[in-house]
Amino acid sequence: MAATSRSCRVSVLLMFVSSVLSLSLGLFSGGDAYRRQLSVQLNPGLPLPAPGGDLLHVRAVGDNDTLHFLFCSQGAPTLLIVHTNTSSSTVKVDWPKFEARNNSGSVKVEPESSVLYSTAIIFSRLLEYDDVNNTADPSSDLFPPYELQGFQWSGLSLSEESAQLCGAAKNFSSGSFCLQVSGHFASEGRDQSMPHLLHTANTSQIKVWLDGVLPRAARSRFVLEVQAVGGAYPLSRVEIHRSIDDEFTPTIFKVSQWVSLANGSSDVLGFLQWKPVAYRRSNPALEYATQCRHSEPRRTNGEETAAQSALVKAFYAEPESFGLNVSFGTAGEPFYNSTRFLSWTMLVGIGSPPVDSFSPLVMSMMAVGLGTPMILLLLGGVYVCVRKRAAPSAMAYEPIN
Ligand SMILES: *[C@@H]1O[C@H](CO)[C@@H](O)[C@H](O)[C@H]1NC(C)=O
Ligand SMILES: *[C@@H]1O[C@H](CO)[C@@H](O)[C@H](O)[C@H]1NC(C)=O
Ligand SMILES: *[C@@H]1O[C@H](CO)[C@@H](O)[C@H](O)[C@H]1NC(C)=O
Ligand SMILES: *[C@@H]1O[C@H](CO)[C@@H](O)[C@H](O)[C@H]1NC(C)=O
Ligand SMILES: *[C@@H]1O[C@H](CO)[C@@H](O)[C@H](O)[C@H]1NC(C)=O
Ligand SMILES: *[C@@H]1O[C@H](CO)[C@@H](O)[C@H](O)[C@H]1NC(C)=O
Ligand SMILES: *[C@@H]1O[C@H](CO)[C@@H](O)[C@H](O)[C@H]1NC(C)=O
Ligand SMILES: *[C@@H]1O[C@H](CO)[C@@H](O)[C@H](O)[C@H]1NC(C)=O
Ligand SMILES: *[C@@H]1O[C@H](CO)[C@@H](O)[C@H](O)[C@H]1NC(C)=O
Repeated sequence: MAATSRSCRVSVLLMFVSSVLSLSLGLFSGGDAYRRQLSVQLNPGLPLPAPGGDLLHVRAVGDNDTLHFLFCSQGAPTLLIVHTNTSSSTVKVDWPKFEARNNSGSVKVEPESSVLYSTAIIFSRLLEYDDVNNTADPSSDLFPPYELQGFQWSGLSLSEESAQLCGAAKNFSSGSFCLQVSGHFASEGRDQSMPHLLHTANTSQIKVWLDGVLPRAARSRFVLEVQAVGGAYPLSRVEIHRSIDDEFTPTIFKVSQWVSLANGSSDVLGFLQWKPVAYRRSNPALEYATQCRHSEPRRTNGEETAAQSALVKAFYAEPESFGLNVSFGTAGEPFYNSTRFLSWTMLVGIGSPPVDSFSPLVMSMMAVGLGTPMILLLLGGVYVCVRKRAAPSAMAYEPIN
């Protein structure tokens, strides 16, 4: 009898603990506590505005490491991330050499022995094609490409959390191609606007958009060519993962990750992550979503790629590069001319890419869905135990009758 009541107590306790656990997991899911101290510098070491285009440096210092984010519009717009194993590494720029775009070594992260990993993302070309048959096949009827290195870029406009850059080709006649690098995030969080990408202290978010550009055909669609440059381990492979469809990016079930892997290892050193969705209005919403697709990354000529970007030329002595094309819109979806706007957002960072978890709303719904039966089970268990304990004592009085 003592054994039954103890096992009863244990099972009730277990049920209680597990239901409390599942509820609290629901309320406090995720939450990476890693934080970084941020400092922002425009044109480090140069008192004047940089004549050829601004260079933004964000230093994000962690416990025993530093992430340097460098963003520059000399040539094609480029974001360079350098990870070091010390919290005291610095960036040195030799401005005359940098502006000459002649040699590597004019942008250095010191001490050089502290550099663990680096990767650069270059937005190299914008392609436009006439989709006469509405098949969204980007290899048909291409117009001459827009080379982003030849654009005229505005100065960087800085706000508290982001830097914005807009540029135009002479042939655009109106409209612009813009980039916003934001976050250089101090800690984990989620972007306020769709697709609500999840970021961490080790990532930066880039949003690109094409606003008001006059298309060269009524049925024009656009493609963006992106290059990734690295030293030993450039981003070389795109992995497509299933993503949880929750309220953050409805109807999008996938996340694409262009990753760099160390030799013979599955550890991700750096990545570019995006959801395969773009938006046809400046206020992104589900009804303006349009799909995007990417081509397989292919090795490109490192020297030629570096020649397009002052930052890459200055930092990498032996650049290795891969490139891919991201095309916007699929067969049957509206053409660019319908809104004359297109935006696409991605996340670039070091280490493992952030993984989406259920949102608090979905979590609390699950907690209610799972918690209610739990509580019923718990109450049922308590009731059975009480009955079991009560029954023997009633039996003990029986002989008196
Ligand atoms: C950082 O370095 C300090 C000493 O230099 C060490 O005590 C600490 O464990 C390190 N932290 C991490 C996260 O490696
Ligand atoms: C390129 O660099 C070399 C030496 O570093 C220098 O002699 C030459 O003048 C430079 N060329 C340009 C166009 O700046
Ligand atoms: C940082 O890396 C360099 C070179 O890999 C190494 O010599 C140094 O000991 C490392 N420092 C720390 C604190 O890990
Ligand atoms: C469009 O369709 C027509 C007729 O089917 C075909 O002749 C033409 O080659 C197609 N154009 C493209 C770019 O696919
Ligand atoms: C821009 O215009 C020039 C001449 O006006 C032309 O040669 C070039 O192909 C045009 N480029 C694009 C992308 O339309
Ligand atoms: C960010 O990087 C630091 C240092 O490499 C690491 O300790 C931390 O776990 C990373 N955080 C995330 C969310 O990846
Ligand atoms: C774009 O659409 C408008 C109507 O919405 C039309 O007047 C215009 O001609 C179209 N542009 C092109 C390049 O066909
Ligand atoms: C990676 O492995 C390949 C061949 O397996 C080798 O050629 C290359 O040098 C290695 N790269 C590094 C950075 O060790
Ligand atoms: C992107 O597409 C254009 C046009 O089809 C092609 O010339 C270019 O090589 C592609 N870029 C990459 C990196 O595959």
